[in-house]
Amino acid sequence: MAKTRTIYSCQSCGHTSHKWLGKCPDCGGWNSFVEEKVVEEKKSGRVRDNVESPQPISRLVMAEEDRVKTGIAELDRVLGGGLVPGSAVLIGGDPGIGKSTLLLQATGMLAESGVKVLYVTGEESMRQIRLRGERLKALSDGLLVYSETSVERIIDAIKEIKPGAIVIDSIQAVYTEAFESSPGSVSQIRESAARLIAHAKSFGAPVFLVGHVTKDGAIAGPKVLEHMVDTVLYFEGERGHAFRILRAVKNRYGSVMEIGVFEMKDKGLVEVSNPSEIFLAERPRDSSGSAVVSSLEGTRTILVEVQSLVCPTLFGMPRRTVVGVDYNKVILLAAVLEKKAGIALANHDIFIKVAGGMRLDEPAIDLGVLASMTSNFLDKPIDPSTVIFGEVGLAGEVRAISQVEPRVREASKLGFQRCILPKDNLKGLKKPGDMKLDGVSNIKEAIEKFF
Ligand code: TYD
Ligand code: MG
Repeated sequence: MAKTRTIYSCQSCGHTSHKWLGKCPDCGGWNSFVEEKVVEEKKSGRVRDNVESPQPISRLVMAEEDRVKTGIAELDRVLGGGLVPGSAVLIGGDPGIGKSTLLLQATGMLAESGVKVLYVTGEESMRQIRLRGERLKALSDGLLVYSETSVERIIDAIKEIKPGAIVIDSIQAVYTEAFESSPGSVSQIRESAARLIAHAKSFGAPVFLVGHVTKDGAIAGPKVLEHMVDTVLYFEGERGHAFRILRAVKNRYGSVMEIGVFEMKDKGLVEVSNPSEIFLAERPRDSSGSAVVSSLEGTRTILVEVQSLVCPTLFGMPRRTVVGVDYNKVILLAAVLEKKAGIALANHDIFIKVAGGMRLDEPAIDLGVLASMTSNFLDKPIDPSTVIFGEVGLAGEVRAISQVEPRVREASKLGFQRCILPKDNLKGLKKPGDMKLDGVSNIKEAIEKFF
């Protein structure tokens, strides 16, 4: 008979212990240990199925992975050029952001192209999925929907169906009989994910796991879940905004710089293949505080508008409220402006926002953010046909950045007539059409060129 054993595990990091502890020795969390019962199965030694001996790296044969295209180009782009057979992809995001929608759309297309897909839902009924499938036009016979939460039964289904792709929506909703704790607890998530991934890998089928996020935005459950999978994607967007951005934070098969942009419409997610156009569409002309910056996201350059409001502080402490840009970057740029250009922002509130719900964290946006603050402070609009990029150093110098040519090309493509960029980047730069290139070497020079 199977024996039951009691362990205590930390609900925030997954650390286990034989006795209850008030403070987790691993992550330092207080009162996070919960009693869990483990059903021990008799194991007859370790199974070693594919025994391989160590080999010299030069002699390893490189198998050209044949990636499967999901049919959604933005998703393929973030995955690094398509789905790798046998890979495990974890998708996290706020509730209602569109994780299930994206996966149903993608698997609908996969099924359409002849891949058999098993879509396991632990949260919604089959009827709900069918209704959504009707809206998304994802009604293919190859898409099998299964409403189940037991990992053992899901694995039985995988063995029977032998699908070419698997979706588990969500990993927090499933449970394995090896643990008596409730679904969603750390040991359940860890064990369920490990079993499902191992089975999917043995069939060479890619598996998508949907992960809930905690209130601070991290994927709920043990950190080890992110280590177990090959790719971790976050689906994000602002509430009330139709734009959704799919971002990779870990990818064993591609770059993590790549983003996918979607728009949520009544018939599901629509790919946005040229995000700049949409992000710039509602830009106010001749309004102070608005600057267009260029940000490199993977293989694509995206032009985005940064907006600032700089107004005198009414109460003692000046406020700095920043959406879409790093908070510390703004504090730093304000200090540089004050010391090196004599623009005194110390007793001003600063509000900064990036249009379209984008999040920018490239050094090349420094000069644009600085331009936007300066413009609003001086109440002078920046010429709307100018794009600004460059890194700003603490001495007020404008430093060269990488990949200037694609940025200039994108600006030219969208009808911009002038770029303000680091002087050092001008060397050997090809000028597309009649684009005017204004090189600057410090912020004082730059401020003169802004207006
Ligand atoms: P959903 O995929 O259920 O989110 P998640 O799985 O991340 O929790 O997304 C549901 C949201 O998307 C819901 O607010 C309605 C909206 N939606 C549309 O606007 N159009 C559509 O065609 C679909 C299917 C959903
Ligand atoms: Mg869902």
